[in-house]
Amino acid sequence: MCGIVGIVGKNQAERVILNGLHRLEYRGYDSAGLFVADESHHHLVKSPGRIKNLEDKVTAEVTGNIGIGHTRWATHGEPTEENAHPHTSQSGQLVLVHNGVIENFEEIQQNYLSEHTFLGQTDTEIAVHLVEELKVKENLSTKEAFRKALSIIKGSYAFGLIDLTDLQTIYVAKNKSPLLIGLGDGFNVICSDALAVLDQTDTFVEIEDGEMVTVTADSVVIEKQDGQVVTRDSFKTQVDLTDIEKGTYPFYMLKEIDEQPTVMRRLVQEYQGDNHQVNIDPALVAEFAQSDRIYIVACGTSNNAGWSAKTLIEKLTNIPVEVHLSSEFAYDMPLLSAKPFFIYLSQSGETADSRQVLVTTNKLGHPALTITNVAGSTLSREAKHTLLLYAGPEIAVASTKAYTGQIAVMSILAKAVGEYKQIQAAKEFDVFHELSIVASAMDSLINDKQHIKDLADEFLATTRNAFYIGRSNDYYVSMEAALKLKEISYVQAEGFAAGELKHGTIALIEEGTPVMAIITEEVTGSHTRGNIKEVESRGAKTLVIVTEKLAKPTDQIVLPTVHPLLSSLVSVVPTQLLAYNATIQRGYDVDKPRNLAKSVTVE
Ligand code: F6R
Repeated sequence: MCGIVGIVGKNQAERVILNGLHRLEYRGYDSAGLFVADESHHHLVKSPGRIKNLEDKVTAEVTGNIGIGHTRWATHGEPTEENAHPHTSQSGQLVLVHNGVIENFEEIQQNYLSEHTFLGQTDTEIAVHLVEELKVKENLSTKEAFRKALSIIKGSYAFGLIDLTDLQTIYVAKNKSPLLIGLGDGFNVICSDALAVLDQTDTFVEIEDGEMVTVTADSVVIEKQDGQVVTRDSFKTQVDLTDIEKGTYPFYMLKEIDEQPTVMRRLVQEYQGDNHQVNIDPALVAEFAQSDRIYIVACGTSNNAGWSAKTLIEKLTNIPVEVHLSSEFAYDMPLLSAKPFFIYLSQSGETADSRQVLVTTNKLGHPALTITNVAGSTLSREAKHTLLLYAGPEIAVASTKAYTGQIAVMSILAKAVGEYKQIQAAKEFDVFHELSIVASAMDSLINDKQHIKDLADEFLATTRNAFYIGRSNDYYVSMEAALKLKEISYVQAEGFAAGELKHGTIALIEEGTPVMAIITEEVTGSHTRGNIKEVESRGAKTLVIVTEKLAKPTDQIVLPTVHPLLSSLVSVVPTQLLAYNATIQRGYDVDKPRNLAKSVTVE
């Protein structure tokens, strides 16, 4: 949420920054800006809207060998040019970009900046004014004023600061918002995500919360709040530039939907040890197995993945599972069992709502596992255990391959725990074989794109609202299917437990309302069929997504057979493609839906 990129020590800094901002655009795209300078010129360019708008304003003279850029997802202040970053101090000498939320900005304004005039409404502008105020009033160097400002500021931040009187240095600080330093040959970069600067370097240094860094072309000095210097090794990122390119795909979302079979096969490779055993840290397996209740905590699509894994974990491990929304759990924690085990699901590993709960459960001393796509992410670093999704970067805002990856990883983990506990169902569940079957089933659905596109045209091109219905696991997939549809196509969509319709929601069914029913279970299937009849007799237009052996000739989407515990991995695929095609039909940007951003680092 908000992206930062900066560079010191390289000519045409504006090119590196613009390329970086394009790659960070998934983090927010309300407005963008950059500052570049050399010894004789400096330029501040900002624009509301997409990076393309900013790029159009970057003329040939906007160039330099040091600079910082920002792509914004608005928290304080509308997405206008004035509120776009970078922000400048009162005199214009300091220039700052920020990702995060300054919680005490009003207090800072009253206590330190009552005589200052602000151009916009952002908390960031307060921060840069504060640094200058401390610099002038207390006669501090920029670095010391920045350090002092950090001791006053409360909240989350990743900052990049440049002083126009010292164009050799970028000052950086981080607290609860991601920021990395990239090491170059004769230059250094700063970025919210390594993806932004992969064309410049593959070597990075992590910064921890509360640290401040002084970055020049040939040095990176990390200090703690009290000034103590920290030495930290660099690491090489595993992500390859080709992983983040769209190739011939029109949108990342389609590429990522198509990658799902590969992700399933990669998970088999990564987690299959010798003798076909699951290769997961035995300490994690034992700790999970000894718990008396599993709490899955996550947001959005990751939360939906938690629901889709609930039954399979319970069946394979005999341990009850609760699934919670992070933002609710944080303020309304349920009574915990005697030996709880926490699973945090997070594609990005940076979601503030989930992190907040993790901090609390860590304090309470409960064991926690983060299942994430991003090695080294905040949730991964802060949880005792991590399992990776190996899905490759997910760039479309709408999550697809992370959802299926999360369920698949949980099925592998549940198999390991169930075997450890000698549960018969786990012994009989050949998880790697079953995931290979899932991969082939996904392949065949993905190859049937034209058919699903035709159905999207017929059912979703013009409708105002739509419903997904199902029971048990099919209900959980309905929730995810509806989220996918609403977030990118703006069709008002809801996922309902099919049996609940008649208790209220059926009142919304009108002539022609699309109702998509998911049926993968024999026991509940006949009841869902009954619910389909109920909505049809009230005018609904129905589309049935059904597993092969339960299919009737009139059903529109037939799913290849997979193990019943893994049915969500397959039934979700056509719903992703329906959402994608509905969005194309309606003429919206699939990858960057309005008001959203990937990686939600504010509460
Ligand atoms: C929806 C979507 C979001 C995320 C949610 C959690 O397509 O992507 O609902 O799932 O913001 O994000 P992570 O998984 O990064 O914690």
